[in-house]
Amino acid sequence: MKKKILIFGSEGQLGHDLAAVLAADYQVKAFSRVQADITDFNSVFKIITREKPEFVINAAAYNKVEAAETQSDLAFTINASAVGNMASAAANAGGVFVHVSSDYVFAGNKALFTEADEPNPLSAYGQSKLKGEKLIQSSQVNYYLIRTSSVFGIQAGKQKMNFVDTIIARAKEDKALKVVDDQIMSPTYSFDLAGKIKELIEKPAPFGIYHVSNQGSCSWYEFAQKILELMSINAPITPISTEESGTKVNRPKKSILKNLALEKEGFAPMPTWQDALSRYLKEKYK
Ligand SMILES: NC(=O)c1ccc[n+]([C@@H]2O[C@H](COP(=O)([O-])OP(=O)(O)OC[C@H]3O[C@@H](n4cnc5c(N)ncnc54)[C@H](OP(=O)(O)O)[C@@H]3O)[C@@H](O)[C@H]2O)c1
Repeated sequence: MKKKILIFGSEGQLGHDLAAVLAADYQVKAFSRVQADITDFNSVFKIITREKPEFVINAAAYNKVEAAETQSDLAFTINASAVGNMASAAANAGGVFVHVSSDYVFAGNKALFTEADEPNPLSAYGQSKLKGEKLIQSSQVNYYLIRTSSVFGIQAGKQKMNFVDTIIARAKEDKALKVVDDQIMSPTYSFDLAGKIKELIEKPAPFGIYHVSNQGSCSWYEFAQKILELMSINAPITPISTEESGTKVNRPKKSILKNLALEKEGFAPMPTWQDALSRYLKEKYK
């Protein structure tokens, strides 16, 4: 009998890839926002209690970093309270909870961040994701808490565009490309992240926090340059500072996640972000 996995947020970049990657080996029940709004605490608790899955995976999140500054109540409800509710429900049902958090829980004041580093978020979005982490840790549930960064995935194009698709679309429309070069991160393909989550639960690795980003790092400007190069698009692109970008949100200057726990547990390293980007572009723009 295949183990049962519930996925919430199944129409996001990661949720979509998780459902695809897990489908062959598990009994997957995937819930979109329409099928299960995670802020409807009672009905989500009831679904988890009724289904008694071996794993509950939360791929749903409020990811609008700019808007979270003015909609922090909503960000905290989705990224924290709803997460605490799912953790309790999973514990109650005897299942393991898998949740995804962000590099934005860190202040960005170090060369790289391991699982042992102390979070210190700069933005409302980061604070809401950290609160979600803390609610899981203070619950009774067995958990894999996975932090990742700068996610791109196939599903994004259906409802909204991720950074990669935005750069390509703007370049094709001859729109000016100005991209910040003073924020350094590790771009991560949701397909690679989904695959590593599958490996984690199958090993099974010890419960706890795992950083899972594609290897290597770059500025958003360097990322955009690579996207254009791999797509053979010859468009002018200008590096700008965060200050020049006009953002009102404090973001980490460097949020490189070191996948130290994966390394210690003997997992194969994640592919480089350049390799991940090249596979993504072939898959989406072939
Ligand atoms: N994207 C990034 O750059 C990034 C960076 C670091 C960490 N992460 C984390 O990685 C995880 C996966 O991110 P992703 O890129 O796959 O995000 P995504 O593509 O934005 O998907 C999030 C999904 O959650 C759904 N959702 C939002 N509110 C919901 C609610 N109340 N109930 C049920 N579903 C709801 C969204 O539905 P709608 O589209 O209908 O709103 C969307 O389908 C998240 O935990 C995110 O915080 C992402």
